Amino acid sequence: MAFAKDFLWGGAIAAHQAEGAYREGGKGIATSDVIHGGKGRFEEVQNPQAIRKNIEAPEGYFPEHIAVDFYHRYKDDVALFAEMGFKVFRTSISWARIFPNGDDTQPNEQGLAFYDSLFDELLKHGIQPLITLSHWELPINLTKKYNGWASRDLIPLFERYAKTVFERYKGKVKYWLTFNEINMSLHKPFKGAGVLIDDPAQREALTYRACHNKLVASALAVKACHEILPDAKIGSMVASITVYPYTSHPDDNWKRLEIERESYALTDVQTRGKYPAWLKRQFEKNGIDIGMTADDEKILREHTVDFVSFSYYFSNAVLSGDHASAEPGTSIFGDAVRNPYIKTSEWGWQIDPKGLRIALNFLHDRYQKPLFIVENGLGAKDVVEADGAINDDYRIEYLREHIKAMKAAVEKDGINLMGYTPWGCIDIISAGTGEMSKRYGFIYVDRDDEGKGTLNRSRKKSFFWYKGVIASNGENL
Ligand code: BG6
Repeated sequence: MAFAKDFLWGGAIAAHQAEGAYREGGKGIATSDVIHGGKGRFEEVQNPQAIRKNIEAPEGYFPEHIAVDFYHRYKDDVALFAEMGFKVFRTSISWARIFPNGDDTQPNEQGLAFYDSLFDELLKHGIQPLITLSHWELPINLTKKYNGWASRDLIPLFERYAKTVFERYKGKVKYWLTFNEINMSLHKPFKGAGVLIDDPAQREALTYRACHNKLVASALAVKACHEILPDAKIGSMVASITVYPYTSHPDDNWKRLEIERESYALTDVQTRGKYPAWLKRQFEKNGIDIGMTADDEKILREHTVDFVSFSYYFSNAVLSGDHASAEPGTSIFGDAVRNPYIKTSEWGWQIDPKGLRIALNFLHDRYQKPLFIVENGLGAKDVVEADGAINDDYRIEYLREHIKAMKAAVEKDGINLMGYTPWGCIDIISAGTGEMSKRYGFIYVDRDDEGKGTLNRSRKKSFFWYKGVIASNGENL
């Protein structure tokens, strides 16, 4: 058998993409509450004027306000996760439910109580919570008052929030992650760090400063977790993208290396306790002051993470110069090209199971820490047949091939893998597009891109398939 008996099979979501109830239980408005859905979302999150307008005079449909109403329906949803045999369930705590303004001196008891009941419900079914402290949202007041993570003021505020939830959920939560996809803050500063950038010339300086502040806060959370919950494990989380050179031209391979080292630079700090040399040189060359203090250096050095978690959806190819021509590809770093050997999803993401095995080997070699795949999956449109069936064979095929790759990495490459939580185990709002129609779930939710629908849940074909995968510990694929 490839997987250990205690391998953590499960699924993952994030608070803002699922909970809804955006003004209930004393919750404050979060950065995720001021972004519209649809095709314009990508531009909107990069546009400070548009975001300020949404904060001051919100108009139109904001998908995260209701999302899939997990806040009210979590008991039924957890029962469905239990039916599939989940051993672990990843979600995040919404910071704005606990500290509605981010800088309040006292936490909001109703917010704390909500997560108490969610964790109790999971534990009742034998499901371990895996909790992200911050998944692409923060109280909007922190953007208004401090420009988000661009300010060091957020470090002690986050530390207080982290200590509050560690104390409260002592004995309930054994697995923690600090920040979701920390490297994404470099590409999406508002979503990742609540930072609005008015002057494009300041972009590099502001994003790296924000990331540095997040790294110090992450290390302080690791410290607090180790002190308050000595038996718990706390990890980092990175968006892992396997990058290939488009040709064997040395410049293409160099470009791959540049993209790769940028993607992992922040995780390098979280695992090794110091910045990589190339990035320090880049800061010097570009006159970037991240505000590093002697104390920061010590905190980063002394409080590294216990394990490395990551998301993996697709791989990318990159091309340097014009020595070959290629079609443009879809990626977060802008200049990817299409890899002709790999097919794409309806959203242009290139489907590459072997890329997951490569990522597992790469991260294992680089960090020598246990790994956890906390996101993986296929965003696709589903069709509900007349009899209510949802035959999502494309999703089963995607997951089957990725699990095979993961299995090979464990069995043949000796990778130490803690678990696997496919993304959006129940349909939720897409973070990238705000759409409902980009579905990842084993459980279908009746809701559309305009917010219409009953919100009723139903089991897809993949639900029964994944149940069999877990029951056989990954043997029946
Ligand atoms: C990851 C995020 O980047 O990808 C999730 O951590 C997100 O929040 C997931 O939902 C899938 O992306 P999308 O845009 O299809 O929702």
